Amino acid sequence: MLTWRRSRRRAPDPLYDVPGVPGVTSVPGGVSEAPPVDVAAEDYLRLFYTENPGAGVLRERLREVRQEIARTGTYTHTPGELIFGARVAWRNSGRCIGRLYWRSLRVRDRRHVTTAEGVAVECVNHLRDAAPGRRIRPTITVFPQDRPGVPGPRIWNEQLIRYAGYAMEDGSVVGDPRYTGFTAMLRELGWPGGPGSPFDVLPLAVSMGDGPPLLSTIPGDAVLEVALSHPDYPWFEQLGLRWHAVPVISNMCLEIGGICYRAAPFNGWYMGTEIGARNLADVDRYDLTPVIARRMGLDTGSDRSLWRDYALVELNVAVLHSFERAGVTMTDHHTESRRFLTHLEREEKEGRVCPADWTWIVPPMSASATPVFHRYYEDRLLSPNFVHHPDSLARALGHRTATGG
Ligand code: ARG
Repeated sequence: MLTWRRSRRRAPDPLYDVPGVPGVTSVPGGVSEAPPVDVAAEDYLRLFYTENPGAGVLRERLREVRQEIARTGTYTHTPGELIFGARVAWRNSGRCIGRLYWRSLRVRDRRHVTTAEGVAVECVNHLRDAAPGRRIRPTITVFPQDRPGVPGPRIWNEQLIRYAGYAMEDGSVVGDPRYTGFTAMLRELGWPGGPGSPFDVLPLAVSMGDGPPLLSTIPGDAVLEVALSHPDYPWFEQLGLRWHAVPVISNMCLEIGGICYRAAPFNGWYMGTEIGARNLADVDRYDLTPVIARRMGLDTGSDRSLWRDYALVELNVAVLHSFERAGVTMTDHHTESRRFLTHLEREEKEGRVCPADWTWIVPPMSASATPVFHRYYEDRLLSPNFVHHPDSLARALGHRTATGG
């Protein structure tokens, strides 16, 4: 069994770190004041009817929505408004390089599901539905919105599939060090723990509002994973590395026209560097570059041998090679960078601003070898969007918050 040493906590990021919640980050807007629901609703409906001219008459819908808000304090999106809102939330996600296909997002409307069991079942169905025959389809499942006095469901996990991190007594970590806090929290809540491998899939934790969570393990057939091998290094396979195929972010809020869908897990497909240059490589994650460099016989005594760089490239070669061999959808950072600039051009032609955060768009390796590096972008917080609520961020890393949420 492989174990990896626990690393020091990273330096705080003043731009995104949530005050009072160590190690927790948030997008701007996720923690700021929201406009009143009737104002936000009107802005969104204007956008909806402008971009969907066949949808009907804005004025009538506005009257209806205002009445519903006066009566209930909130309002209900039509299926069409929900689908379009979810797609535009993706289009407005300034950190996402993969937005070219925003119109193709599949929306699973599960607003009628009102129990934690039902939410867990539909999360598992999402996983099966998002990757038929190993071809990944961008998909979102939308659960009930928050209503005044009646909060909707919460998924505590950061993604539907993530690996446990077990903190050992000697300070090392087995598994993903990002989730030592979350893993410990689940164990306190009654999870007996997995077999103790570096890649134990965590159970889902789902609550209704801020109530206690229901824990449920994800059936194996819903967890598509790829074992990693390298086209030229036979020893690579023996490292026993793997990663899950579908990244389904499950702790962000889908915000449409002033409505919060706090449980709305969504996925695209992976870009290789997310796994090869971050999850498996970051010093505070699986930290595998030294392991690989030693197996490659590189001189790790000197930074100037560029052993880290060589090891990083080979790890990324292995990730792309293995997904390709397994027939699982994945993109590389060169292709995706070009696609992003195509997307940007299209958006500008449509007369829209395409918000983009350079620090997230530029790939974590070979930055200057991709075209997205060589320019700047306008970044703006537009609605609809996916936003972080501090309590969800904190829970996903196993931190307790003052509000208990
Ligand atoms: N970077 C995250 C991870 O490694 C996933 C973020 C979303 N990525 C995507 N390709 N849709 O799991």
